[in-house]
Amino acid sequence: MLRRLHSEQPDSFAFTPANQAWAEGQITKYPEGRQASAVIPLLWRAQEQEGWLTRPAIEGVADMLGMAHIRALEVASFYFMFQLQPVGSVAHIQICGTTSCMICGAESLIEVCREKIADTPHTLSADGKFSWEEVECLGACTNAPMAQIGKDYYEDLTAEGFAKLLDDLAAGKVPTPGPQNGRYASEPLSGLTSLTDYESGKTQYNASAQLATDIGDTVKRIDGTEVPLLTPWLGKTGKAVKSAAKEPAAKKAKAPKPAKAVADAPTGAAKKPRTLKGPRKAGADDLKQLKGVGPKLEQTLNELGFYHFDQVAKWTADEISWVDDNLKFKGRIERDGWVDQAKTLAAGGETAFSKKMKKGDV
Ligand code: FES
Repeated sequence: MLRRLHSEQPDSFAFTPANQAWAEGQITKYPEGRQASAVIPLLWRAQEQEGWLTRPAIEGVADMLGMAHIRALEVASFYFMFQLQPVGSVAHIQICGTTSCMICGAESLIEVCREKIADTPHTLSADGKFSWEEVECLGACTNAPMAQIGKDYYEDLTAEGFAKLLDDLAAGKVPTPGPQNGRYASEPLSGLTSLTDYESGKTQYNASAQLATDIGDTVKRIDGTEVPLLTPWLGKTGKAVKSAAKEPAAKKAKAPKPAKAVADAPTGAAKKPRTLKGPRKAGADDLKQLKGVGPKLEQTLNELGFYHFDQVAKWTADEISWVDDNLKFKGRIERDGWVDQAKTLAAGGETAFSKKMKKGDV
């Protein structure tokens, strides 16, 4: 398969502050002059953040590691785990098509993907929520046929069950990973002979599915705040945000949420903001004054019906989610603080970026 950069690329890439701190910590693992050894973890974190590897991300990682751009591109294009084209905003589905899965019905799962997502692999569904591909054996052959969705495995699938699973994901639910036919793990149908925690009632699911359920990040994009920054050699052990996964489930359920977080949190339902058919009489604002918006993104924003800073300034969390989905660059709006920048610019003020831009420094 020909692996090359996608024809449409964003203008820029930046790690979230937490991911940036994590990446800088990883680089310190290697001796001076060997920083390039961190290329795979950094590329992987960039993909976990964005969903796929963009050219600016690959080049940004190369710059961080003092590598020629082509060296990082060679790594990104060699390993199939790196996605070089946009993936579904909800999930990228990887169907195992190797022997056991093929014998047990992988082709019918691929048929479901063709019907529900897109006729060809690595193509976004019409709503942009899903993409799919066939992959080689994922090592869960006893539970064939299976698929990797996000970070987890869904096993013992049937075409009907898999179609329902996609519907659930599209509706914002995250089905429990693991066997989908009632099996606990990969035990014989006659029942468990070892690892009997489930039978004794200690856990609800098998170890992998239980951990996945406890962590709850199956299709979540990673912004670096989820895990502690483990760089004890820098004296920064566990400095970052405490991992929610480490809290006991019962405690997590009872913990009251801060009022502001509740008020600001998206409800999960993306909502289309008010749009305009064209710019107002005085002409469109130069949206490129927003840090993170280049000529291509500005054009897309205009096509979506956004021409003015005051429109962007009014976006709510659910509306940001809708715009995110339509720009296909999840997380960028919040990461670059478009709404706050737009509020300042709409009020006639300047941001550090807009000042630089006017001077021609960017
Ligand atoms: S053949 Fe599908 S997981 Fe091994």
